[in-house]
Amino acid sequence: MKIGIFDSGLGGLLVTKRIIKELPEYDYVYLGDTKRVPYGNRSVDTVYEFLKESLNFLYKKNCKMVVVACNTASAEGIDRIRKEYLPKHWPDRKVLGILVPTIEKVVENKGLKRIGVLATPGTVISNKYPQEFRKANKKIKVFQQEAPLLVPLIENGGVKWVKPILKEYVEKLMRHKVQAIILGCTHYPILKKEIRELVGKDIIVFSQDELIAQRLKKYLFNKDEVRTKLHKKGTREFMVTDMTKSFKKHAQDWFGSKIKLKLVKL
Ligand code: DGL
Repeated sequence: MKIGIFDSGLGGLLVTKRIIKELPEYDYVYLGDTKRVPYGNRSVDTVYEFLKESLNFLYKKNCKMVVVACNTASAEGIDRIRKEYLPKHWPDRKVLGILVPTIEKVVENKGLKRIGVLATPGTVISNKYPQEFRKANKKIKVFQQEAPLLVPLIENGGVKWVKPILKEYVEKLMRHKVQAIILGCTHYPILKKEIRELVGKDIIVFSQDELIAQRLKKYLFNKDEVRTKLHKKGTREFMVTDMTKSFKKHAQDWFGSKIKLKLVKL
């Protein structure tokens, strides 16, 4: 069986690249729902429906587990998927969201008590980051900042104009005297250099592309029932629900090497 990686679009290729580098032996199927991206400003019910369809597709492709790289889908949909959907339709399959592994990594830094989260409006409204942090460590205060303009700018080749907008979002978090900022969206690793420059050396920036592979490794190590079912042929498939020239370019830029996208219907 395979490992599925799901994102609303192609930003998830940034974490996929690191996962494959760290765990090259497994078989991977990436699905980017490019037809319906962005998820970040949609309603909770819509994101849940989209996630459900995408997971169903990946499980049919023989994925034993799916990593949901998309923060919005993880925040808004995974709890309900685990409670309502998996037990009924795919009781032997697993889903791993991106929020909990991120939080587990952050709380390893014992001194951190004030954390900022930069994310899409959907992720912020779900309040899932503060809720999960409370479960991990009640003493940690979480401050969220929605950044609705960042994904559209990145998607449309506007990174060179991002600085003033980014500055405004980041400064709002810094006013809360945060000690660390989580880049809570698949696309933000692209901006991590700019963000690190803006916040300076004293604030830690957690970028999911730098932490997810290690967390997945740990997850597989602890979950015999998943690991033992995985094939090790090193195959990779990259699927999208819509194909354009710009999607092809993003895929190559963000994955860092040429990949062949396959157009699929969910
Ligand atoms: N993948 C989304 C996330 O990580 C960003 C793009 C979108 O809004 O769909 O939140």
